[in-house]
Amino acid sequence: MKKFGKCIVVLQYPVMWSLVILVIFFSHSVMSQDATKNELPNFDSPAVFQVTQPVDHGEGPMWDGRKNLLYFVDIHAGRVLSYNYDSKKVSFVTLKGDVSSVIPAKKNENILVLGLDRSLMAIEWDGQNDVKSKRVLTTVAPQFPQSRFNDGKADKQGRLWVGTMGFENPQTRQLAPNQGALYKITKDTFLSPKIEIAPVNISNGLTWNKANNKMYYIDTPSKKVMEYDYDDEKGDISNPRVSVDIEKFPSVTGSPDGMTIDNDDNLWIALFGGGSIIKVNPVTGQLLQVVPIPARDVTSVMFGGPNLDILFVTTSRRGLTDSERKTSNAAGSVFGVTNLRTKGSPAHFVDLVDNARRANILAEILINTNELFAQPLPNEVSNALVQSTEASQNYVVQQPQRTSEKEDVPAFWGAILNTIRNFF
Ligand SMILES: *[C@@H]1O[C@H](CO)[C@@H](O)[C@H](O)[C@H]1NC(C)=O
Repeated sequence: MKKFGKCIVVLQYPVMWSLVILVIFFSHSVMSQDATKNELPNFDSPAVFQVTQPVDHGEGPMWDGRKNLLYFVDIHAGRVLSYNYDSKKVSFVTLKGDVSSVIPAKKNENILVLGLDRSLMAIEWDGQNDVKSKRVLTTVAPQFPQSRFNDGKADKQGRLWVGTMGFENPQTRQLAPNQGALYKITKDTFLSPKIEIAPVNISNGLTWNKANNKMYYIDTPSKKVMEYDYDDEKGDISNPRVSVDIEKFPSVTGSPDGMTIDNDDNLWIALFGGGSIIKVNPVTGQLLQVVPIPARDVTSVMFGGPNLDILFVTTSRRGLTDSERKTSNAAGSVFGVTNLRTKGSPAHFVDLVDNARRANILAEILINTNELFAQPLPNEVSNALVQSTEASQNYVVQQPQRTSEKEDVPAFWGAILNTIRNFF
């Protein structure tokens, strides 16, 4: 009876209650203002960072977790580059011709299989010092002498799936149509690799799902990702259908180029001319995410890093005008993207050659491999951030003051480099 009475007394003071409500309201709005003011950065969004200095036309990122190396190519410069994740050092070798799709051998991490024009090469390179040996494994498409190898990947069994494209006029960018094909190259079919898909225009990205019963494939100008049933035991593809149609995404531009897949079976596709990479569900064809990259022509993607959670992205600066290059001065670099809340699986390596010296003696008789190699590189001073030494043909990125190696630079070039350094 007493308690009830008190309650009634309290309710009898409407002025006091109004004040209490006002105080609660104000304190709440002040608090929420504070929260806005101190809003933390959005740690959920992807972080894009520059990994290397720009090259002309970067392509074909390939992570080898055995060595913590990311291989990639500068196609028209004939360069195979390696980025050492631990030392942050970039090394390269130069071949004579257009290079593509570097894939290490399963049984020897120093053997790399790569495309050189229309030929498939094996080189013995530790990713740092000089090339020890090199062999031509096979040459394809004699009917299209100006066509060349482009993107390629090894399947789980170590077979190489690698495609070609027709000649592209560097000035007009006009492409000789229907001259490309996707080849499957195995240990037993070096000299007559089987054509799996033809004709194509620009054979590009390919990858397999986790269950390893589907293969995805991009012929760039088609602007589509095709899906095939995949028989891993036989290495057969069948039943082609459209999985992703880039033109159905109004928010993106450009053409699909290189591609990889994450552990959730979503595709990551580089958009050449589209300044971005996209994440797509290949089952529903739905666009899940767009990550802008600071370069218009994004060429390829691959998960790497010790935890396979960095998406390495290659780009090109080749098609940019001089003024575009000034405003887009990181174009051509390899970028890394973190915070994607997914990761990849280790790449498959080719099981074609164990030893470059012994590989395919028949092919060796046909082609003098030495002719395919450029003369030793002159030291380069065009980029003040790049120091090159004739001895190692290595250069360092993001570490311009590598004083310990100054002595390696011949006096003349050393003087020029110093002038450039002092100027900046
Ligand atoms: C290749 O490009 C040409 C010219 O645009 C086109 O007519 C042809 O259908 C394309 N080929 C394929 C296989 O998509």
